[in-house]
Amino acid sequence: MDLTDRPRRLRADGVRDLVSETELHASDLIAPIFVDATTDERVEIESMPGHERVPVEEAVPRTEEVLSTGVESVIVFGVPESKDSEGSRAWADDGVVQRAVRAITDETDAYVITDVCFCEYTDHGHCGILESDAAEDPHLTMDNDATLELLRRTAVSHAEAGADMVAPSGMVDGMVGAIRNALDAAGYEQIPVMSYAAKYESAFYGPFRDAADGAPSFGDRRHYQMDPANAREARREVRLDVEQGADVLMVKPALPYLDIVSELRREFDRPVAAYNVSGEYAMLHAAADRGWLDRQSVAHESLLSIKRAGADLILTYFAESVAERL
Ligand code: PBG
Ligand code: ZN
Repeated sequence: MDLTDRPRRLRADGVRDLVSETELHASDLIAPIFVDATTDERVEIESMPGHERVPVEEAVPRTEEVLSTGVESVIVFGVPESKDSEGSRAWADDGVVQRAVRAITDETDAYVITDVCFCEYTDHGHCGILESDAAEDPHLTMDNDATLELLRRTAVSHAEAGADMVAPSGMVDGMVGAIRNALDAAGYEQIPVMSYAAKYESAFYGPFRDAADGAPSFGDRRHYQMDPANAREARREVRLDVEQGADVLMVKPALPYLDIVSELRREFDRPVAAYNVSGEYAMLHAAADRGWLDRQSVAHESLLSIKRAGADLILTYFAESVAERL
């Protein structure tokens, strides 16, 4: 056969690694952990096999489990002891995240990121304070500008507790600038902000909302999270966050939105993070449990694909199991 181009030449065993374009490293991965002030023992999360909500006293051992796999970073989510209309336990000095972060940063070398949002802390489950009468009127929603002040307080309280990086996830307009100003004014110029910059209103968050007890009690999040139909709008959202000082730009979810990951990688000169969310994790587990997929292979391939699309950092519930095998 007269074939000059034979791509198979470079797929032979001795050479394939030499020409491999993408490699996963444990240091690219961020493991989410759930700290729960309502329990004094670890509780399995049914829809996220292998993950648990742990009491504050277990935050350090839980982090050490992550570190033992080679993953160096955690993002901390909290379930508070009580909820109210403002989500005031989110900025409490003795709040669940604040106590956990103090312990983790005192006792381990983990790089600690905190999720800054109110949906786990409000009795209505929305990501900020509500416009008055929102519960009666399905067209009313989160009060954007009133929420900014609460975000400032919460981010500063996380920094005071020792957080290395804060990650606002509420899709509140102006959230990055508000948090950046508040951190700077409090002397935390060195703490980076990772913005959930292009966060879509996705049905793939279902298992997380069980895990963190943060489902909205009425309505949905379509008035603040992005419409899954939109890609151009992501560029605009992200540009605004860059202008406000975002250090790291996140896309969420990951696999159904790799076009966005790849576009942000090309358009912006900031690290791009992708959040491989709870539903992406749960569906692979469910199929593997039936013997339809090989769990470790699909987990590795998922993260590799997210990286190939352009993500520098990956937040994933697979962090530990994938890192252990690298
Ligand atoms: C809270 C928040 C959510 C996730 C991270 N932070 C849920 C939501 O927006 O409903 C989702 C994470 C996941 O599904 O793994 N704002
Ligand atoms: Zn939220």
